[in-house]
Amino acid sequence: MRSRMGLAATLVLAAGAVVATQSVEEFDGWMRTIDEKNQSVQQAIARQDAATAAADAKVLQASFTLVERFWVARDDGREAVALSREGRERAEAIERALEVKDFSRAQSESIKVAETCTPCHRLHRPLP
Ligand code: HEC
Repeated sequence: MRSRMGLAATLVLAAGAVVATQSVEEFDGWMRTIDEKNQSVQQAIARQDAATAAADAKVLQASFTLVERFWVARDDGREAVALSREGRERAEAIERALEVKDFSRAQSESIKVAETCTPCHRLHRPLP
């Protein structure tokens, strides 16, 4: 009986490790999307391509939302939650600025999105 419980516990631990690995891989995927869209949105704003920039801003919002949820679930994630929220809110502000074709505001908001990267990387990169 005791050994069977030991086996069950081992299986649960192994399953936990698989879930953890998957979420790190998923996390890296969100980061690569954020990296790509962070550059693309700035380029689109610079050439005043509102449609592309707005689409990029939407993807940034969705990705930062996933990142925020990831950190909400962690004990050490308070700063990271705040930074991902900031990234999402700034991406929303880009979209609002584009709706009124205010490219200069869209640009300053996109810089604020980019300013969330380094503080979070300093604190949490690499993921344990
Ligand atoms: C809320 C915290 C947080 C924010 C904000 C954040 N990152 Fe990250 N990022 C991380 C962490 C943590 C890792 C390390 C993941 C790991 O160890 O696999 C990472 C890794 C990455 C990677 C490497 C992904 C890979 O494939 O290994 C890239 C690229 C990246 N971030 C780009 C960005 C850019 C660009 C921004 C800003 C626009 C940004 N990140 C904002 C937390 C954040």
